[in-house]
Amino acid sequence: MANCTPFIKWAGGKRRVIPELEKRLPKKFNRYFEPFIGGGAFLFYLQHHTSSISDMNGELINLYLTVRDSVDELIADLELHENSSDYFYNIRNLDRDLNSYNQLSNVERASRFIYLNKSCFNGLYRVNSKGQFNVPFGKYKKPIYFDRENLERCSQFLQKVDIRLGDFTVFRDEVQKGDFFYFDPPYFPVTETSNFTSYTKDGFGLDEQKRLLEFAKEIDSKGGYFLISNSYSPEILEFYRDFYIDIIEVGRAINSKGSGRGRVKEILVRNYHLNS
Ligand SMILES: C[S@@+](CC[C@H](N)C(=O)[O-])C[C@H]1O[C@@H](n2cnc3c(N)ncnc32)[C@H](O)[C@@H]1O
Repeated sequence: MANCTPFIKWAGGKRRVIPELEKRLPKKFNRYFEPFIGGGAFLFYLQHHTSSISDMNGELINLYLTVRDSVDELIADLELHENSSDYFYNIRNLDRDLNSYNQLSNVERASRFIYLNKSCFNGLYRVNSKGQFNVPFGKYKKPIYFDRENLERCSQFLQKVDIRLGDFTVFRDEVQKGDFFYFDPPYFPVTETSNFTSYTKDGFGLDEQKRLLEFAKEIDSKGGYFLISNSYSPEILEFYRDFYIDIIEVGRAINSKGSGRGRVKEILVRNYHLNS
Protein backbone atom coordinates (compact mmCIF):
# COMPACT_ATOMS: atom_id res chain seq x y z
CA MET A 1 0.00 0.00 0.00
CA ALA A 2 1.26 3.48 -0.84
CA ASN A 3 2.32 5.59 2.08
CA CYS A 4 -0.18 8.09 3.46
CA THR A 5 -0.11 10.36 6.50
CA PRO A 6 -2.70 12.42 8.42
CA PHE A 7 -4.09 15.40 6.49
CA ILE A 8 -4.81 17.41 9.66
CA LYS A 9 -2.89 18.29 12.81
CA TRP A 10 -4.54 16.87 15.91
CA ALA A 11 -3.97 17.40 19.63
CA GLY A 12 -2.70 14.13 21.03
CA GLY A 13 -1.75 12.94 17.54
CA LYS A 14 0.07 9.62 17.73
CA ARG A 15 2.76 10.11 15.06
CA ARG A 16 5.63 10.02 17.55
CA VAL A 17 4.24 7.01 19.39
CA ILE A 18 3.81 4.80 16.33
CA PRO A 19 6.95 2.68 17.03
CA GLU A 20 5.69 1.99 20.58
CA LEU A 21 2.26 1.01 19.29
CA GLU A 22 3.63 -1.14 16.53
CA LYS A 23 5.80 -3.09 18.97
CA ARG A 24 2.68 -3.94 20.93
CA LEU A 25 0.35 -5.05 18.18
CA PRO A 26 -1.18 -8.48 18.69
CA LYS A 27 0.76 -11.04 16.63
CA LYS A 28 -2.32 -11.72 14.51
CA PHE A 29 -5.73 -10.09 14.35
CA ASN A 30 -8.66 -9.91 11.97
CA ARG A 31 -10.31 -6.50 11.80
CA TYR A 32 -8.90 -3.17 13.01
CA PHE A 33 -11.07 -0.65 14.90
CA GLU A 34 -10.10 2.84 16.00
CA PRO A 35 -13.01 4.58 17.74
CA PHE A 36 -11.29 7.86 18.74
CA ILE A 37 -9.85 8.53 15.32
CA GLY A 38 -8.70 12.19 15.59
CA GLY A 39 -5.97 12.70 12.97
CA GLY A 40 -5.67 8.94 12.40
CA ALA A 41 -1.87 8.65 12.61
CA PHE A 42 -1.90 4.95 13.47
CA LEU A 43 -4.70 4.10 11.03
CA PHE A 44 -2.79 5.54 8.08
CA TYR A 45 0.43 3.94 9.23
CA LEU A 46 -1.11 0.48 9.57
CA GLN A 47 -3.40 0.57 6.55
CA HIS A 48 -4.94 -2.66 7.72
CA HIS A 49 -7.09 -4.33 5.06
CA THR A 50 -10.27 -4.21 7.15
CA SER A 51 -10.51 -1.03 9.19
CA SER A 52 -13.36 0.77 10.93
CA ILE A 53 -13.08 4.21 12.48
CA SER A 54 -15.32 6.58 14.41
CA ASP A 55 -15.31 9.80 16.36
CA MET A 56 -17.89 11.94 18.12
CA ASN A 57 -16.79 15.06 16.29
CA GLY A 58 -19.26 15.46 13.41
CA GLU A 59 -17.13 17.93 11.45
CA LEU A 60 -14.17 15.56 11.66
CA ILE A 61 -16.21 12.58 10.44
CA ASN A 62 -17.62 14.68 7.60
CA LEU A 63 -14.00 15.41 6.64
CA TYR A 64 -13.07 11.70 6.51
CA LEU A 65 -16.17 10.89 4.47
CA THR A 66 -15.42 13.74 2.06
CA VAL A 67 -11.78 12.69 1.60
CA ARG A 68 -13.05 9.19 0.88
CA ASP A 69 -15.95 10.05 -1.42
CA SER A 70 -15.21 13.44 -3.02
CA VAL A 71 -11.47 14.06 -2.93
CA ASP A 72 -11.30 15.91 -6.29
CA GLU A 73 -14.02 18.38 -5.33
CA LEU A 74 -12.36 18.84 -1.96
CA ILE A 75 -8.98 19.64 -3.55
CA ALA A 76 -10.63 22.11 -5.94
CA ASP A 77 -12.25 23.88 -2.99
CA LEU A 78 -9.04 23.86 -0.91
CA GLU A 79 -7.26 25.73 -3.70
CA LEU A 80 -9.56 28.72 -3.16
CA HIS A 81 -8.39 29.57 0.37
CA GLU A 82 -6.40 32.68 1.25
CA ASN A 83 -3.90 33.33 3.99
CA SER A 84 -5.10 36.52 5.67
CA SER A 85 -6.58 37.35 9.00
CA ASP A 86 -9.79 38.83 7.50
CA TYR A 87 -10.36 35.81 5.31
CA PHE A 88 -9.64 33.43 8.23
CA TYR A 89 -12.21 35.11 10.49
CA ASN A 90 -14.79 35.16 7.69
CA ILE A 91 -14.42 31.42 7.23
CA ARG A 92 -14.18 30.73 10.95
CA ASN A 93 -17.30 32.75 11.73
CA LEU A 94 -19.50 30.99 9.18
CA ASP A 95 -20.71 28.78 12.04
CA ARG A 96 -22.04 31.83 13.93
CA ASP A 97 -25.12 31.79 11.69
CA LEU A 98 -26.53 28.28 11.62
CA ASN A 99 -28.93 29.04 8.75
CA SER A 100 -26.09 29.88 6.38
CA TYR A 101 -23.82 27.24 7.85
CA ASN A 102 -26.36 24.55 7.07
CA GLN A 103 -26.36 25.71 3.43
CA LEU A 104 -22.70 24.72 3.05
CA SER A 105 -22.09 21.51 1.15
CA ASN A 106 -20.23 18.64 2.82
CA VAL A 107 -17.22 19.45 0.62
CA GLU A 108 -17.28 23.11 1.73
CA ARG A 109 -17.47 22.07 5.38
CA ALA A 110 -14.57 19.65 4.96
CA SER A 111 -12.52 22.27 3.14
CA ARG A 112 -13.25 24.79 5.90
CA PHE A 113 -12.15 22.22 8.49
CA ILE A 114 -8.76 21.67 6.82
CA TYR A 115 -8.25 25.38 6.18
CA LEU A 116 -8.98 26.31 9.81
CA ASN A 117 -6.89 23.42 11.09
CA LYS A 118 -3.85 24.54 9.10
CA SER A 119 -4.32 28.28 9.70
CA CYS A 120 -5.42 28.52 13.30
CA PHE A 121 -3.18 28.79 16.33
CA ASN A 122 -1.32 25.48 16.88
CA GLY A 123 -3.82 23.49 14.81
CA LEU A 124 -6.09 23.19 17.82
CA TYR A 125 -9.71 22.14 17.51
CA ARG A 126 -11.77 23.96 20.07
CA VAL A 127 -15.40 24.99 20.09
CA ASN A 128 -17.32 27.09 22.60
CA SER A 129 -20.48 26.00 24.41
CA LYS A 130 -22.52 26.83 21.28
CA GLY A 131 -20.34 24.59 19.16
CA GLN A 132 -18.63 27.55 17.45
CA PHE A 133 -15.00 27.15 16.47
CA ASN A 134 -13.07 29.70 18.50
CA VAL A 135 -9.32 29.24 17.94
CA PRO A 136 -7.61 32.47 16.76
CA PHE A 137 -5.69 33.02 13.52
CA GLY A 138 -2.25 31.36 13.69
CA LYS A 139 -0.38 34.01 11.66
CA TYR A 140 1.69 31.45 9.75
CA LYS A 141 3.71 32.98 6.92
CA LYS A 142 3.13 30.28 4.32
CA PRO A 143 0.82 27.58 5.65
CA ILE A 144 0.48 24.50 3.47
CA TYR A 145 -3.16 23.49 3.58
CA PHE A 146 -2.81 20.16 1.85
CA ASP A 147 -0.55 17.81 -0.04
CA ARG A 148 -2.48 16.73 -3.11
CA GLU A 149 -0.77 13.36 -3.61
CA ASN A 150 -1.06 12.46 0.05
CA LEU A 151 -4.74 13.41 0.12
CA GLU A 152 -5.35 11.25 -2.94
CA ARG A 153 -3.51 8.31 -1.37
CA CYS A 154 -5.53 8.74 1.85
CA SER A 155 -8.69 8.81 -0.23
CA GLN A 156 -7.69 5.63 -1.95
CA PHE A 157 -6.96 3.87 1.32
CA LEU A 158 -10.22 5.13 2.88
CA GLN A 159 -12.30 3.61 0.06
CA LYS A 160 -12.78 0.42 2.04
CA VAL A 161 -12.81 1.93 5.53
CA ASP A 162 -16.05 1.91 7.51
CA ILE A 163 -16.39 5.48 8.86
CA ARG A 164 -18.99 6.27 11.53
CA LEU A 165 -20.07 9.24 13.56
CA GLY A 166 -20.69 8.30 17.15
CA ASP A 167 -19.59 7.41 20.60
CA PHE A 168 -16.62 5.06 21.05
CA THR A 169 -19.04 2.18 21.67
CA VAL A 170 -20.60 2.56 18.22
CA PHE A 171 -19.14 -0.81 17.12
CA ARG A 172 -20.26 -2.62 20.28
CA ASP A 173 -22.70 -4.99 18.62
CA GLU A 174 -20.18 -6.02 15.99
CA VAL A 175 -17.27 -7.12 18.17
CA GLN A 176 -16.01 -10.58 17.26
CA LYS A 177 -13.24 -12.88 18.38
CA GLY A 178 -9.90 -11.80 16.87
CA ASP A 179 -10.88 -8.12 16.35
CA PHE A 180 -8.35 -5.54 17.48
CA PHE A 181 -9.32 -2.16 18.96
CA TYR A 182 -6.87 0.67 19.43
CA PHE A 183 -8.30 3.34 21.77
CA ASP A 184 -6.75 6.77 22.07
CA PRO A 185 -9.28 8.61 24.26
CA PRO A 186 -8.92 12.14 25.60
CA TYR A 187 -6.48 11.48 28.43
CA PHE A 188 -7.43 11.50 32.06
CA PRO A 189 -5.88 14.72 33.45
CA VAL A 190 -2.81 14.24 35.61
CA THR A 191 -2.84 17.76 37.00
CA GLU A 192 -5.16 20.73 36.55
CA THR A 193 -2.84 22.44 34.06
CA SER A 194 -2.26 19.46 31.82
CA ASN A 195 -6.01 19.04 31.37
CA PHE A 196 -6.82 18.95 27.69
CA THR A 197 -10.08 17.16 27.45
CA SER A 198 -12.40 19.53 25.59
CA TYR A 199 -12.07 18.19 22.05
CA THR A 200 -15.81 18.30 21.59
CA LYS A 201 -18.58 20.16 23.33
CA ASP A 202 -18.74 17.42 25.94
CA GLY A 203 -15.64 16.72 27.99
CA PHE A 204 -14.37 13.25 28.77
CA GLY A 205 -14.39 12.83 32.54
CA LEU A 206 -14.02 9.96 34.98
CA ASP A 207 -17.43 8.50 34.06
CA GLU A 208 -16.39 8.33 30.42
CA GLN A 209 -13.10 6.65 31.38
CA LYS A 210 -15.12 4.09 33.34
CA ARG A 211 -17.35 3.46 30.34
CA LEU A 212 -14.24 2.86 28.26
CA LEU A 213 -12.96 0.38 30.85
CA GLU A 214 -16.29 -1.49 30.71
CA PHE A 215 -16.23 -1.59 26.93
CA ALA A 216 -12.62 -2.84 26.96
CA LYS A 217 -13.66 -5.64 29.35
CA GLU A 218 -16.49 -6.55 27.00
CA ILE A 219 -14.08 -6.79 24.06
CA ASP A 220 -11.84 -8.97 26.22
CA SER A 221 -14.71 -11.26 27.15
CA LYS A 222 -15.66 -11.68 23.48
CA GLY A 223 -12.12 -12.78 22.55
CA GLY A 224 -11.07 -9.48 21.01
CA TYR A 225 -7.83 -7.58 21.61
CA PHE A 226 -7.49 -4.03 22.87
CA LEU A 227 -4.64 -1.57 23.22
CA ILE A 228 -5.36 1.70 25.05
CA SER A 229 -3.28 4.87 25.36
CA ASN A 230 -3.83 7.00 28.43
CA SER A 231 -2.08 9.22 30.94
CA TYR A 232 0.17 7.83 33.63
CA SER A 233 -2.21 8.52 36.51
CA PRO A 234 -3.13 6.57 39.65
CA GLU A 235 -6.79 6.35 38.62
CA ILE A 236 -6.05 4.79 35.24
CA LEU A 237 -3.42 2.42 36.67
CA GLU A 238 -6.00 1.24 39.19
CA PHE A 239 -8.73 0.84 36.54
CA TYR A 240 -6.61 -1.46 34.40
CA ARG A 241 -4.79 -3.35 37.14
CA ASP A 242 -5.98 -6.72 35.77
CA PHE A 243 -4.36 -6.12 32.37
CA TYR A 244 -0.83 -5.59 31.00
CA ILE A 245 0.36 -2.02 31.53
CA ASP A 246 3.50 -0.54 29.96
CA ILE A 247 4.82 2.91 30.82
CA ILE A 248 6.33 4.81 27.90
CA GLU A 249 7.96 8.24 27.56
CA VAL A 250 6.56 10.54 24.91
CA GLY A 251 7.53 13.95 23.52
CA ARG A 252 4.47 16.17 23.59
CA ALA A 253 3.71 18.45 20.63
CA ILE A 254 0.59 20.22 21.83
CA ASN A 255 0.18 21.45 25.35
CA SER A 256 -1.99 24.28 26.64
CA LYS A 257 1.14 25.95 28.07
CA GLY A 258 4.31 26.20 25.99
CA SER A 259 6.35 25.51 29.11
CA GLY A 260 4.68 22.11 29.40
CA ARG A 261 6.43 20.77 26.31
CA GLY A 262 8.88 18.00 26.98
CA ARG A 263 8.81 14.32 27.76
CA VAL A 264 5.90 12.89 29.69
CA LYS A 265 5.05 9.43 30.88
CA GLU A 266 2.05 7.73 29.33
CA ILE A 267 0.67 4.25 29.60
CA LEU A 268 -0.29 1.58 27.10
CA VAL A 269 -2.73 -1.05 28.35
CA ARG A 270 -3.40 -4.31 26.55
CA ASN A 271 -5.30 -7.52 27.26
CA TYR A 272 -2.94 -9.91 25.49
CA HIS A 273 0.51 -11.31 26.01
CA LEU A 274 2.98 -10.03 23.43
CA ASN A 275 4.21 -13.44 22.40
CA SER A 276 0.80 -15.02 22.09
C1 LIG B 1 -6.59 11.97 21.63
S1 LIG B 1 -7.71 12.28 20.33
C2 LIG B 1 -7.25 11.00 19.24
C3 LIG B 1 -5.95 11.31 18.53
C4 LIG B 1 -5.61 10.33 17.40
N1 LIG B 1 -5.17 9.05 17.91
C5 LIG B 1 -4.53 10.90 16.48
O1 LIG B 1 -3.51 10.23 16.18
O2 LIG B 1 -4.68 12.04 16.04
C6 LIG B 1 -9.25 11.85 20.99
C7 LIG B 1 -10.46 11.87 20.02
O3 LIG B 1 -11.59 11.38 20.73
C8 LIG B 1 -12.78 12.04 20.27
N2 LIG B 1 -13.81 11.83 21.32
C9 LIG B 1 -13.98 12.47 22.49
N3 LIG B 1 -14.99 11.92 23.20
C10 LIG B 1 -15.45 10.88 22.46
C11 LIG B 1 -16.45 9.89 22.65
N4 LIG B 1 -17.23 9.85 23.76
N5 LIG B 1 -16.65 8.96 21.68
C12 LIG B 1 -15.90 8.98 20.57
N6 LIG B 1 -14.93 9.89 20.32
C13 LIG B 1 -14.71 10.83 21.26
C14 LIG B 1 -12.32 13.45 20.04
O4 LIG B 1 -13.19 14.09 19.10
C15 LIG B 1 -10.89 13.24 19.49
O5 LIG B 1 -10.87 13.20 18.09
